[in-house]
Amino acid sequence: MMIDVEHLTKKYPGGVTAVSDVSFTVARGDVVGFLGPNGAGKSTTMRILSGFISPSGGTVRVAGLDVTKDSLKVRRHLGYLPESCPLYLEMRVRDFLRYRGELKGVPYRHLKNRVSKVMEQCGLLEVRKRPIGHLSKGFRQRVGIADALVHNPDLLILDEPTIGLDPNQILLIRKLIDELSREHTLLLSTHILREVEATCDRVIVLQQGQIVDSAPLRELEDRWCPATRIHLEVRAKSDELDVFCRQLPDLREFKLRMEDDWACLELDFGLNADPRQDLFDRVRQRGWDLRELHRKRRTLEEAFVNMTHGEVPAGDIPEEAAHA
Ligand SMILES: Nc1ncnc2c1ncn2[C@@H]1O[C@H](COP(=O)(O)OP(=O)(O)O)[C@@H](O)[C@H]1O
Ligand SMILES: [Mg+2]
Repeated sequence: MMIDVEHLTKKYPGGVTAVSDVSFTVARGDVVGFLGPNGAGKSTTMRILSGFISPSGGTVRVAGLDVTKDSLKVRRHLGYLPESCPLYLEMRVRDFLRYRGELKGVPYRHLKNRVSKVMEQCGLLEVRKRPIGHLSKGFRQRVGIADALVHNPDLLILDEPTIGLDPNQILLIRKLIDELSREHTLLLSTHILREVEATCDRVIVLQQGQIVDSAPLRELEDRWCPATRIHLEVRAKSDELDVFCRQLPDLREFKLRMEDDWACLELDFGLNADPRQDLFDRVRQRGWDLRELHRKRRTLEEAFVNMTHGEVPAGDIPEEAAHA
């Protein structure tokens, strides 16, 4: 295991319990997203993993090493992009990365190559001679990622790597993360769903310092959004539609909106239902005009809202997640 966290707890001085009895593992090569609203404990967990603050309880191992006992060795295995990445604004990009590489123990004979490599990977060659303070937020973030990478760590921990960036910059950072995920184990945090959808194999959802669930995205959606939604538009009267809907097998809920004489229906069925053929037959039997019938992808947003508002899904959750 690249990361092995058991019963981690963190209480800050002053009494805030930021993380409470959290356990999870990340295998070598995995790309895992930490997802949760602000204050969920994402940054705290990442700071502990990186050896920057110590846990109040539990054990945390990175590459088999205990982060409290072997903090210096652990740092060799990981690159960490903190939430607000401290950069020396007056330093030039290349000089800064050389300095950071030296600090992290990159042998002098490899330093020049490593710095060139990470500048190339992170798209920084064109700005290598510019002072960091003159760069846009997107470029600065890339300098932060290059810094995390300079000693070629196995594991990269990126805390909200796209926060505060504009949409173009976000796309570029995502592309970079995608490339990095081929060579490194990656743990990245975000409060934005699209982020994990775009980049992660698996998601760990945190809420108030605890793990709510942990699974590949598809599974999370199935668990927390247990419905098949059909969008149907037919030309029919609303009283006829009421009868129509009540006769549908396995219908959970429906919404009706009229657009002139077209009825637009959102129909929620059970998770594995596929009532499209049946619906089509029923519409045809009634002789209604049909202008739309399609199955909608359940949205991650719905799943996220359910997960972080404490509603328990109907289906079965794995033992550990249910208990966490
Ligand atoms: N240095 C600190 N001292 C005291 N409380 C803190 C400190 N850092 C974070 N917290 C608190 O711990 C909780 C978790 O914060 P954090 O780990 O930053 O969450 P996230 O990164 O998910 O937004 C929050 O309630 C936050 O206010
Ligand atoms: Mg944070």
